[in-house]
Amino acid sequence: MHVPTIIERKRDGKTLDEGEIRHLVQAFTDGSMPDYQMSAFAMAVYFQGMDAGETAALTRAMLESGTSFAWPSHAPRVVDKHSTGGVGDKVSLVLAPLLACDGLWVPMISGRGLGITGGTLDKLESIPGFRIGLSADEALAQIGRIGVVMMGQTESICPADKKLYALRDVTATVPSRPLIVASILSKKLAESLDALVLDVKHGSGAFMKTREDAVLLGEAMREVGTAMGVETRVCYHPMDEPTGRAVGNALEVAEAIESLRGAGPADLRDLVLTLAGEVSGAGREQLAAWLDDGTAFDKFREMVVAQGGDPGSLDAFEQVHPAPVVREVRSPRSGEVRRVDAEAVGRAANALGAGRSQAEDAVNPAVGFDRIVKVGERITAGDPIARIHAGSENDADAAGMSFLSGFLCE
Ligand code: URA
Repeated sequence: MHVPTIIERKRDGKTLDEGEIRHLVQAFTDGSMPDYQMSAFAMAVYFQGMDAGETAALTRAMLESGTSFAWPSHAPRVVDKHSTGGVGDKVSLVLAPLLACDGLWVPMISGRGLGITGGTLDKLESIPGFRIGLSADEALAQIGRIGVVMMGQTESICPADKKLYALRDVTATVPSRPLIVASILSKKLAESLDALVLDVKHGSGAFMKTREDAVLLGEAMREVGTAMGVETRVCYHPMDEPTGRAVGNALEVAEAIESLRGAGPADLRDLVLTLAGEVSGAGREQLAAWLDDGTAFDKFREMVVAQGGDPGSLDAFEQVHPAPVVREVRSPRSGEVRRVDAEAVGRAANALGAGRSQAEDAVNPAVGFDRIVKVGERITAGDPIARIHAGSENDADAAGMSFLSGFLCE
């Protein structure tokens, strides 16, 4: 097949067949198709889009560029969740062990922070000793023993996505719906799931700013996931204020531990129980009981131990990464909290060092915000509305101003 002809057909809005798409993905993965041709193709897809059949073909070709988990015949139902990402979204840390309490297998492969949205791997790495770089064999053995693993993408899972994502990142072709669908689903399908719940976020702190865009993405993922034999559930949630009251890697782990012990913020607990209910046969009451009676926390601790983490650190996690400067932000006015803008908080947390500006940057586990007020709460002028954890007084000053720029109370 002639690569320039395939690119030209997509550029002109034609529908590609499965063979053409497979050829491009294989040639790109084995290096025989250079980056400049794939960049041109990605831009053609960005402008012309792809129909459901093409998107499914792209997803399958990316999935088949690498290996998939192979479960034994006695395996129970294998399930996972994917979130399109948000600010303060630590749901995975609570949800994965909770689902394993139901006897499900949860092979959760997660990513790092992207833009202002945090990443589960960065959060997990704030647990001293915790290893996210497991091999497929280690992951299979751990799942067989305790039912849950939380890890990064291995070299052999979806190499086509790894290469294409890096290229999209530098060619302004990340925000293309078919490319996003194929990228997310190929990695999730490599887990050989029976069921997947997708938490598609919309709002200021999300990738998709409007609910309409979120629904277009969610429906496209439902269609492709279902066509590929996975029971695919889609939930839509606003991301206009941060999830919970903490934003920042270790601060979010501390909040997730509270939630795993039956406490923590109501919105986080509600989101966890809703998403868990989509893929678990256990009712909401039973799921809540596993949070309240310590079963879910015990499962989390078991996973931390299995992956080399220090279980002792979990007992007082807020003391594990003390920031040099910890300071309150106070409300300039009295009234009801109307807005705590997720985007402003996410940007401020990134500026403190919780996220990256370049792929190779290290994140600072200690920094961010906690004790953030929630929309609807009534406060008096001078009340604390968040606590900043910063590396320096200057950083804390800037973070306080950014936080207040997204805060409204009247
Ligand atoms: N996350 C992914 O894994 N891929 C995308 O394309 C976007 C978000």
